[in-house]
Amino acid sequence: MAQIIDGKQVSASVKQEVKDEAAKLRDEKGLKVGLAVVIVGNNPASRVYVNNKKKACEAVGFQSFEYALDESTTQEQLLDLVNVLNRDDRVNGILVQLPLPKHIDEKTVIDAISPEKDVDAFHPVNVGRIMIGDYAFLPCTPAGVMRLIASTGTEISGKQCVVIGRSNIVGKPMAMLLLHESGTVTVCHSKTKNLKEICLGADILVVAVGRANFVTGDMVKEGAVVIDVGMNRLDDGKLCGDVEFESAEKKASYITPVPGGVGPMTIAMLMKNTLTAAKQQNGLT
Ligand code: GUN
Repeated sequence: MAQIIDGKQVSASVKQEVKDEAAKLRDEKGLKVGLAVVIVGNNPASRVYVNNKKKACEAVGFQSFEYALDESTTQEQLLDLVNVLNRDDRVNGILVQLPLPKHIDEKTVIDAISPEKDVDAFHPVNVGRIMIGDYAFLPCTPAGVMRLIASTGTEISGKQCVVIGRSNIVGKPMAMLLLHESGTVTVCHSKTKNLKEICLGADILVVAVGRANFVTGDMVKEGAVVIDVGMNRLDDGKLCGDVEFESAEKKASYITPVPGGVGPMTIAMLMKNTLTAAKQQNGLT
């Protein structure tokens, strides 16, 4: 039976570290860390995420600046706001909540964010820096996964790591971070043949496909560390991950639950990135 990895507990310790360091910055250097969060339209899930980000800012002692823009906001208007925030010294990090309404091109907006303030690490400059291992910010979800793996005491070096999913936000950077830690990394996706066989070779299995209960216990190697990035809403309203928890926990050594696994880590790592941004912008790293 697997040990459950408690994402709430690990994220609380990350947030405590950030809070302590932010207090030190304020007391010793007179610096207040600030995060701007921009949301366009009324996507209910986005609204919840943005509120949680605002609450996290308060909890760690950051200033938060929220810009809730109408669905009808034009791309020009959004780009103007991003440019204002790029120049605002109170704002150390800028996060434009995705998805954006269809009439706005996400890539154009991400490209407009100053890479020094891009705490999501979505800007091509930051993506490129991740590729070469010279990074200031790590994308929040993969960074959170790395921290959860570290919390189990599992060594990554030399291990067979399998990532299912190849998104720009999770799968691709996840593979890169595991590779930087000297894992032997396989990336699987919807066109992968013999997925079960590949998964059965995984010492560390990270699943980010966005399909409920996609990975079942018979695909998990005995003793594997299983990280479930999925967050799927079932017809009965319940949340469930990409991994069928009941069968997988019988095989894994460690496993993340959904909810309470990777989810809480993403916001904690966003706070950490914002602190890093503030330090860098003030020549403190
Ligand atoms: N929408 C869903 N997840 C994210 C995220 O991590 N960052 C942003 N900006 N938008 C999101």
